[in-house]
Amino acid sequence: MSDLHELEQRATVELQACGDEPSLRTWHTKYFGDAGEVKTALNGIGKVPKEQRAAYGKEANRIKEVLNAAFDAALAAEKDRAIERSLTADAVDVTLPGRTVPRGRLHVATQTLREIYAIFADMGFQVYRTREVESDENNFELLNMPPHHPARDMWDTFHTTTPGVLLRTHTSPGQIHVMRQSAPNPVRVILPGMCYRYEQITTRSEIMFHQVEGLAVGEGITMADLKGTIQAFARRLFGQERQIRIRSSYFPFTEPSIEVDVDWPMTDPDAVRLTKGTGWLEIMGAGMVHPTVLRNGGYDPEKFSGFAFGMGPQRIAMLRYGIDDIREFWKNDLRFLQQF
Ligand code: PHE
Repeated sequence: MSDLHELEQRATVELQACGDEPSLRTWHTKYFGDAGEVKTALNGIGKVPKEQRAAYGKEANRIKEVLNAAFDAALAAEKDRAIERSLTADAVDVTLPGRTVPRGRLHVATQTLREIYAIFADMGFQVYRTREVESDENNFELLNMPPHHPARDMWDTFHTTTPGVLLRTHTSPGQIHVMRQSAPNPVRVILPGMCYRYEQITTRSEIMFHQVEGLAVGEGITMADLKGTIQAFARRLFGQERQIRIRSSYFPFTEPSIEVDVDWPMTDPDAVRLTKGTGWLEIMGAGMVHPTVLRNGGYDPEKFSGFAFGMGPQRIAMLRYGIDDIREFWKNDLRFLQQF
């Protein structure tokens, strides 16, 4: 009997010392496993002298019930504590802001180009791309500038080591490509792309920059069509109240040639700087396609006419966003790029 009491006390103390589920399981095996002490005690009932057997057996069974109940209670309590621990230790704070994934974006020049494409697409102009490495013939001669023509000085040129091959100084040679491919059908295209000039890099000029050329050729196209197209474009891009102003100019491949300004509200704090105090801002060169150029493109100038224009979308982006240095476009400085 004293063995039984010693067993009960020891088992109870050990059970209370168990701090986690594995130690509880170990405790259970020690006392209730096949060779466990409680099992052994119960199996030993038969060996107890007859007169003590009933009392011993009763006590052994009582201890078995008590310890079993204590184990079940301890295990349940431990499971509760484990859940409680995991709730506090691994708590997810759903109110924390997430980690932001850095998102890429289109370059401000690309954004501006795409806006320009969309406006002209609405007016029925297709986008047409032509080469950046050009022949002298396309870049100058067929645009009505024979060798040594003084107007070539308007475009400082990167020549290559191959005679007659250069980097195009404007998108106008694209006019020749389109016309030769399309004649005698009418055309209505814009020609976007990179151009190159052998110039000093400053805040206002880069050696490489985008242009968007426009060309419409057909029967009965007049200066009024050119004016209407440019006006509609300027209003879509800069605002419906915008006025345009046309000044006479000179390009060898257009006749007459014009330059187009858009009015700039003098209420804008940058207006004086942007417009040099005039309230007008130059946005493009343009004109009616020169008869010689039409002929070089495969059209009979007696029957066909057309207009062309050329603009610098980066200059337009600079005006719209107040960018004061064209070199920012190629610097790849994220602090600049992320603003758009
Ligand atoms: N190619 C001219 C330039 O680069 C712009 C232009 C294009 C003018 C088409 C008239 C017609 O300055």
